[in-house]
Amino acid sequence: MKYLLFLILAIQAVLPGFAACDSRIRIVPRPASVEELPGSFRLTPRTPIVIADERLRTLAEIFAVAAGKLTGTIPAVTTAPVKHAVTLQLQPGYETEEYRLEITKRGISVTASTPQAVLHGLRSLQQLIAGGEIPACIIRDKPSFAYRGAMLDVCRHFFPVEDVKSYIDILSLHKINRFHWHLTDDQGWRIEIKKYPLLTEVGSRRAETLVGRYDKNKEGVYDGKPYGGFYTQEEIREIVRYAADRHIEVIPEIEVPGHGLAALTAYPWLGCTGGPYAVWTHWGISDDVYCAGKETTFEFIENVLTEVLELFPSKLIHIGGDECPKGRWKACPHCQQRIREEGLKNEYELQSYFVHRIERWMHAHGREIIGWDEILQGGISKTANIMSWNGIEPGIKAARKGNPVIMTPKWYCYFDYSQTSDPERYEPLGNTRYVSVRQAYRLDPCDQLTLSERKQIMGVQCNLWTEYIADIKHVQHMVLPRMAALSEVGWAYDRKDYNDFVRRIPALAAIYKAEGYNYAPYLFEGIE
Ligand code: ACM
Ligand code: ZN
Repeated sequence: MKYLLFLILAIQAVLPGFAACDSRIRIVPRPASVEELPGSFRLTPRTPIVIADERLRTLAEIFAVAAGKLTGTIPAVTTAPVKHAVTLQLQPGYETEEYRLEITKRGISVTASTPQAVLHGLRSLQQLIAGGEIPACIIRDKPSFAYRGAMLDVCRHFFPVEDVKSYIDILSLHKINRFHWHLTDDQGWRIEIKKYPLLTEVGSRRAETLVGRYDKNKEGVYDGKPYGGFYTQEEIREIVRYAADRHIEVIPEIEVPGHGLAALTAYPWLGCTGGPYAVWTHWGISDDVYCAGKETTFEFIENVLTEVLELFPSKLIHIGGDECPKGRWKACPHCQQRIREEGLKNEYELQSYFVHRIERWMHAHGREIIGWDEILQGGISKTANIMSWNGIEPGIKAARKGNPVIMTPKWYCYFDYSQTSDPERYEPLGNTRYVSVRQAYRLDPCDQLTLSERKQIMGVQCNLWTEYIADIKHVQHMVLPRMAALSEVGWAYDRKDYNDFVRRIPALAAIYKAEGYNYAPYLFEGIE
């Protein structure tokens, strides 16, 4: 036994890159290549962050604050080159999100061709600092997928600006580069649109909220408290800037043709029946949807989107498309006339007409649409980006048709689902469906696809629907540490290893602690 240990140590001495399971490098998501070197770097209260380029100042300052939470001292950010520093530099020769992190006894350097990738390198360094020792090593790292997203529903519950920023901080920590912001739904319209002031005056408020779990067959108990909230355009700009400083793109979702009851309540002519409607006080799927027959509906949507495009520079704009019951359209003379005039077969093709029309408008304005996978029903264009949430199958189908796909199947990526198999015992009230950390980690976004079909998979995303989640502490409990698992699927798909992930995650959890995040303990307590 002694000889075996000796042999392993001898191999490690001559082969510093040998990835032993007791490696001192604990980083999630798992880096692409790690070469361990002897010794370590000692961070002192006087170690500065040296930036070789002014474009790195903002992210250096963001990192300095994060490092300060771990060490007790916020390092100075300077442009004067000194020894024994954390040096950040931009150099050509790296892919967009690729970085090189070199740690020796004498200093640390992060090199990349973009500020975004420098920040990724610093997020890795942050975990090494959290681990208590900064082992000498050379890390070369880059993501498997270009799209790594996280959605937050601010309609079922509203989250103030500071909370949204805090959610964005969590994304940044996990190298997630897209924030999908679900801004409109049956239970509240949350974005100021100057042309339609009633959207927020009326549509952002509901009379009260269901208490306890929703059951469509039961009347339910309500809290009797008016509830509401929305973001002014100035606040939206502030959040988009905040995310951009962290190299995260914000993708807004304006839901059509379903999940539109808050808008219909504000402007009843948007619906087939003309109302009256009321912003929903409970959960579920509303039969009342935008009328697809009246021209005024499209005028409204285009006017809303015109303001949305001014606020959000992202190429991709999410237009919803899920859960749109067809009953109202069947009974509506306007919708039926549209079906006849356009030569459509049925209401599914009417939905397709609706989505195509918005997509054409979006293309004319230089943007692209994302839709939930129901937009596949009734046929879609080749260019629509599909978010596959009903399992991976719709995504597989879309990829085979040649559409770009983001995999976000609910059985892996819905972080509103419970995290343990016994939620009544361990967890706050919520959706009883079950996605453990291990299950989130199991996602294979390229399952069943050929190498050429895999090119259509842009990446992965986790979603947080907030029917049962009313504050940011609860948000943190739901997404941490499952977001770490999602992050590793998106960043390190080709090198996933769950046991190794569990070995590495304590350093990330130390950051959760330092940041005061209310992360779920189940993984660390062996509860699944
Ligand atoms: C969804 O969960 N309805 C996209
Ligand atoms: Zn109609």
